[in-house]
Amino acid sequence: MQPRRILLGVNIDHCATLRQARYRDDSQTCGRIIEPDPVAFALAAEQAGADGITVHLREDRRHIQERDVARLRECIRTRLNLEMAPTPEMLSYALELKPDNICLVPENRAEVTTEGGLNLLSTKRILNEWIPAAKDAGIQVSCFIDPDCKQIEAAAELASTCIELHTGAFARHFYYAFAREQELEKLRAAAIQAHNLGLTINAGHGLNYINIADICDLPWLNELNIGHSIISRSLYTGISEAVREMKACLVQHHQST
Ligand code: PXP
Repeated sequence: MQPRRILLGVNIDHCATLRQARYRDDSQTCGRIIEPDPVAFALAAEQAGADGITVHLREDRRHIQERDVARLRECIRTRLNLEMAPTPEMLSYALELKPDNICLVPENRAEVTTEGGLNLLSTKRILNEWIPAAKDAGIQVSCFIDPDCKQIEAAAELASTCIELHTGAFARHFYYAFAREQELEKLRAAAIQAHNLGLTINAGHGLNYINIADICDLPWLNELNIGHSIISRSLYTGISEAVREMKACLVQHHQST
């Protein structure tokens, strides 16, 4: 059976990007109203129907800061999904913070955004130690991977029960029909393989109000994590309306299947 409803995780990193554009160092914050506030933004997203809030605490702290994550942990009512690089520092941070989920992603200082999936073949040994530690702390662990059969096999051999499929290549090729269909086929095959291996399947990266319809047609999807497009639309409409419109895209799909 297909899951009946696809959940929406709202990635609020770029709310913090906007704040950091003005208030990067503490000397500029003294006595000022620091805006926008990612926590207020997250609460409004939840009220509008977000099923979870996602943040990526990057090593260079270019957007979300540790104090944001701590306040989110305290305030939000849905689920906190912490995207993080698989480094020892981040693992101990997560074990202390106890987000509901962590999503392990590769991180490279020079990149504008997460460029590719994690290579589970080369990180398997370390993940085999960490994933049980995180699970013992009550944290669900997901690995952000490309739709590649070797990566899915490796994910199923780890103690993780969840993957997030990287939809970036599909999004990049969306306006090239042949390449788009090829990328969709890779995602479809990956979702079927992952489901047959008992994995929960999330997806994200580069999704927007237009390309989401094709992605919703993939089988066995549990949750989509979407950031840039929702935050961009919120500049015109406000975050509540931007989230409601994205939820409507998911519901519309649900009603038509
Ligand atoms: N999922 C993961 C693992 C990501 O790293 C990102 C980007 O931070 C997203 C989803 C959201 O991507 P976008 O901002 O393109 O919607």
